[in-house]
Amino acid sequence: MGYTGHRPALDVVLDGLRRLEYRGYDSAGVAVLDGDGGLAVERKAGRLANLEARLDEVGRDSLTGGTGMGHTRWATHGAPVDRNSHPHRDTTGRIAVVHNGIIENFAQLRAELEADGIELASDTDSETAAHLVSRIYDGDLAAAVRTVSRRLEGAFTLVVTHADEPDKVVAARRSSPLVVGVGEGETFLASDVAAFIEHTRNAVELGQDQVVVITKDGYEVTDFHGEPVQAKPFEVNWDLSAAEKGGHDYFMLKEIEEQPEALANTLRGHFTDGRIVLDEQRLADQDLRDVDKVFVVACGTAYHSGLVAKYAIEHWTRLPVECELASEFRYRDPVLDRDTLVVAISQSGETADTLEAVRHAREQKARVLAICNTNGAQIPRESDAVLYTHAGPEIGVAATKTFLAQIATNYLVGLALAQARGTKYPDEVAREFHELEAMPAAVQQALGTVGQVRELAHELSDSKAILFLGRHVGFPVALEGALKLKELAYMHAEGFAAGELKHGPIALIEDQLPVVVVMPSPKGRAVLHSKLLSNISEIQARGARTIVIAEEGDDTVKPFADHLIEVPAVPTLLQPLVSSVPLQVLAAEIARSRGYDVDKPRNLAKSVTVE
Ligand code: M6R
Repeated sequence: MGYTGHRPALDVVLDGLRRLEYRGYDSAGVAVLDGDGGLAVERKAGRLANLEARLDEVGRDSLTGGTGMGHTRWATHGAPVDRNSHPHRDTTGRIAVVHNGIIENFAQLRAELEADGIELASDTDSETAAHLVSRIYDGDLAAAVRTVSRRLEGAFTLVVTHADEPDKVVAARRSSPLVVGVGEGETFLASDVAAFIEHTRNAVELGQDQVVVITKDGYEVTDFHGEPVQAKPFEVNWDLSAAEKGGHDYFMLKEIEEQPEALANTLRGHFTDGRIVLDEQRLADQDLRDVDKVFVVACGTAYHSGLVAKYAIEHWTRLPVECELASEFRYRDPVLDRDTLVVAISQSGETADTLEAVRHAREQKARVLAICNTNGAQIPRESDAVLYTHAGPEIGVAATKTFLAQIATNYLVGLALAQARGTKYPDEVAREFHELEAMPAAVQQALGTVGQVRELAHELSDSKAILFLGRHVGFPVALEGALKLKELAYMHAEGFAAGELKHGPIALIEDQLPVVVVMPSPKGRAVLHSKLLSNISEIQARGARTIVIAEEGDDTVKPFADHLIEVPAVPTLLQPLVSSVPLQVLAAEIARSRGYDVDKPRNLAKSVTVE
C-alpha cells in the first residue's frame, strides 16, 4: 500500500494493511517520509500485530508525515525473518521499496550489484530493485523506476519512495495487481481496493507495464518508456467485507477465480533455453538420473494431486511411482533407499503426517523433495530439496488454487526427471511444457461454468449423498470432488474409479441419486471414453441423475447426461486442471445453499499440525 495526502500516512497505511493482511502473514513493514528529508522504516517478521507491537515499543514519533507505504509479505525468496521484510532500502537509506511478485532475473541483478560493491542486506529478490533505482537516480524518481522496470523480468508491483521527493509515491506494475484510489486531497495505491474504500470509492486500475506517480492532488500514468497512458477510472460499489474477498461472498470463490494466475505464477521461469529449470530445488541432474523409484506422500487434496502426478510421471519417465497417504506411509515399512525419490506435497508445509513421513524417508536415506506453498515452512526445511508452488496465500480451508498449482509442479518434476534421464527427447519435453503453459487460459475458460454450476448446486442442495466417478486421471478428480463436498457441505460423498462400480458401489445407485461423472476426452484415450459411456448408461438405467463433466463438443455423451457441464478440450494428462474447477464450485455453492460457512468448515483447520 502507498499513500500521500492530508492525513498521517502511518495511520492510513496501517489501516490499509489490516485489510490486506490476508494476502500474506509472513511479515509486515511501513515506511514514512517526514517531508524534511527523513525516511523512517519499521518492519517485523510475522503478523501485522508484531509490527504494531514493535511500533508501540519504539514509539511512533519518528514515523510522522503525510507520505508513506506499507507491505504484508507472503514469502517467495528468502525466509520469513525481519531482514527479509519489506520495505527494503538502498545503501543510502533514502530510497524505500516494497514489492509483490517474483523478479525472475534477480540472481543476475544481484551478482551485478555485488560486483559493483553493493552489499545486499536481505535474501530477497525485492531488495535488488531498491539498489537499482538508487544507482541510476538523478533527481527524477519516476524516470528511475521506469528504467529499472524495463530491466526486471517476471511479475512485479513495485512501490517506491525517495526522501528527496517526499510528496510523491511512484509505483510500477507488471502481472501483479495494483489499483489507485483517488480521494479529496489524498491519493492511495494498493494491491486491492479493500485497502482504501473506507476513504474513497473512486479507483483506477493500472494496466500491464505501467508506472504511476501519485501526489495528494492526483495521479499520472505512463508506460515503462514514459509515454502518457489514459488509465480507466471506475467506481467501487462493494461493501468492505466483499472488497476483501475481491467482490465475492467468500474467499474460496475468489481463490477459485485466481487459479489461472496461480498456475501462471507456478510455471513462470521454469523453462529456459529449451530446458525445464527447477532452480530452487537442490537436486543435481545426477541425483535425478540415479532415482529408480518415486514415492509421492501427502494428505487430503495434496494426496489427490499426487495421484494425478503418478499417471504423468510414470508415463514420461518409465519410473515406478507409488502415491501414498502420508499417515499410512511410515507405519507400513516402505522399501526405501538412497535411490528413492520421495516427493512430499503440502500446501502449508506444516502437516504433521507429511512431516513425519519426510522424517521417516530421510532416516531410510531416501532423497526428499518437498512441494510446498509456504516459504520456509517445516517440511521444506527438513527436506533435501524444495519446489515452491506460487499460488499465493489461500484463506479458504478447502484447497483450490493450491491443488492446481501442486499438479503443475508435480508435472514439472516429472518433466525434469524425463529430461535428466533422457526418457523424453528435448522437443517432447518442450511440447509438454508448452501444453502446460496454455493451461491458465483453459482454466479461465473453465471458469465460465460458474453460473451454470451455481444453479445446479441450488437444485442439488437437498440431496442426501452425491457420488463421483472417473477413470485414469479423472479418478483422482472424482476423489477430490467428493472430498470438497464432504468438507464444505457436510454431505455424504464418495469418489470411485468407474471400473470399480460393478464390484460393489453400484448397489448404492437408487432413483434420483446424483452421480457426477468426469468424462475423459473422446480424442485422447478413446477406450477410456467408451468404457465410461458404458458406466454412465449402467447407472442411468438404475435411475441415477447424471451430472457429466465433459469436453466441449463431445456429442456422444449428451444422451447420457441429465446435466452436462462442458470444459475446454485439453490433453488427457492436463484434464484435471479444467475438470476440477466445476467440482470446486459445486461443493462451495451447495455448502452456501445449505447455509454453511464456506471458508471455515466445521471441525477443520487450514493446517493440521497433529498426527
Ligand atoms: O497443507 P497440506 O497440503 O499438507 O494439507 C493437506 C490436507 O490437510 C488438505 O489438503 C485438506 O485435505 C484440505 N482441507 C482439502 O481441501
